[in-house]
Amino acid sequence: MTATRIDASKLAQNSEPFSFNDQQKNSLFAQLKQQRGILSQTDISSLCQQFQVSQLELLKACVPVASLFSVAPISKFYVGAIAVGLNEQGETNFYFGANVEFSHQALSLVVHAEQSAINNAWLNGAQAVQRIAISDAPCGYCRQFMNELSTADSLEILLPERDFNLHELLPYSFGPKDLGNDACLFSHKQSDKQFADLTIDDAKLIQLALNAYVPYTGNFSAVKLSTFTEGDFYGSYAENAAYSPSLSPLQSALSQFYLAGLSFDDKTVKSITLLETQGAENQYEVAKSVLASFANPPAFEHYIAKLSNA
Ligand code: THU
Ligand code: ZN
Repeated sequence: MTATRIDASKLAQNSEPFSFNDQQKNSLFAQLKQQRGILSQTDISSLCQQFQVSQLELLKACVPVASLFSVAPISKFYVGAIAVGLNEQGETNFYFGANVEFSHQALSLVVHAEQSAINNAWLNGAQAVQRIAISDAPCGYCRQFMNELSTADSLEILLPERDFNLHELLPYSFGPKDLGNDACLFSHKQSDKQFADLTIDDAKLIQLALNAYVPYTGNFSAVKLSTFTEGDFYGSYAENAAYSPSLSPLQSALSQFYLAGLSFDDKTVKSITLLETQGAENQYEVAKSVLASFANPPAFEHYIAKLSNA
């Protein structure tokens, strides 16, 4: 038997990764804005067929499109991320994300691209995230945020130059178990709670608040962002064992809003509604700070409701 020798340097030269040209990028960006930053399995299959590429090649080529959603007035550093997850039907979806910065407010309020993509998956029915493709190396804060996922042990992180597992990038880590918490983000435990004496009747807002991931404070909370003509956007509170990387419900809703390609101004955003749990409230001031970064902030309604176990 003769062994075939492969010249690795030639292979590398011949395997220039697939990428979209500007016109293809813009048309995909337009489609994604309509679909609020999600590509379904059907979309993924038809794009793979159209461009004659594998799902992995498509995923990597989509990362620069994710960066187009970035709102980064401070850094002008446009980060894109795509979380790959299975929906309730077991179909693969691409959930896009990008960083969001707030002018004249604390830098700690920034939503990182990885958080935005994972939040997009979480709010829109993904059962788990298996991999995430990112335009740049994830910062320490995002590595910690991802360590809260149900899939942290196997999570693949795909970067433009090479791929990693989360545990390679976050060895000897701190996580939920260190605080005695056996739950995790995407554990899909159905909430056994209810609110008592609620004066709002938005079923989606209530359901998102009750399904918030709040193992550390118990503040089941969610936000609804209503627009004049573009529908409603929702966010839910996702906490982290290291506390600081937690994603507040308003940040969550705003990053969903930006994934529709909208801009936050008084002609677009009608109102913001925050629902929190009585006795555990902690979101009012942070929501005020975020909203203070906008000229003419919209009406802000704040509801506090008591929890009663069903
Ligand atoms: N950024 C991310 O979105 N992800 C990372 O992990 C690295 C940093 C964003 C945050 C901020 O908007 C800008 O990049 C500069 O740090
Ligand atoms: Zn980060």
